[in-house]
Amino acid sequence: MAKGYVKVATVDGLSSGKLKCVKVGNEEVCIINTGSSIVALSNICTHAGCELADNGEVDGEELECGCHGSRFKLATGEVTGPPARVNLKRFDVRIQGNDILISVSG
Ligand code: FES
Repeated sequence: MAKGYVKVATVDGLSSGKLKCVKVGNEEVCIINTGSSIVALSNICTHAGCELADNGEVDGEELECGCHGSRFKLATGEVTGPPARVNLKRFDVRIQGNDILISVSG
């Protein structure tokens, strides 16, 4: 396994457009199959703390929080629509065979 990375899910278990919350250490991470790639962002919306795996939805290149409509760029976690003002933390993802690995170290 790649150094600094932990296995959090399998590619088989995350179909296109799906979001899944995983806990790694103290981090709550939302892994997302965007349809073209798998990305990992903080699971906690920076607006008012809704859990994105439960309330979020993939819309094109963006993730929309269903609680109040904040939007974030899937690739980077950057805010693209209010009311959120703070970007979501993004985690590096690697795919190894059928395994989804993420790095929470940086
Ligand atoms: S908690 Fe996500 S938009 Fe308000």
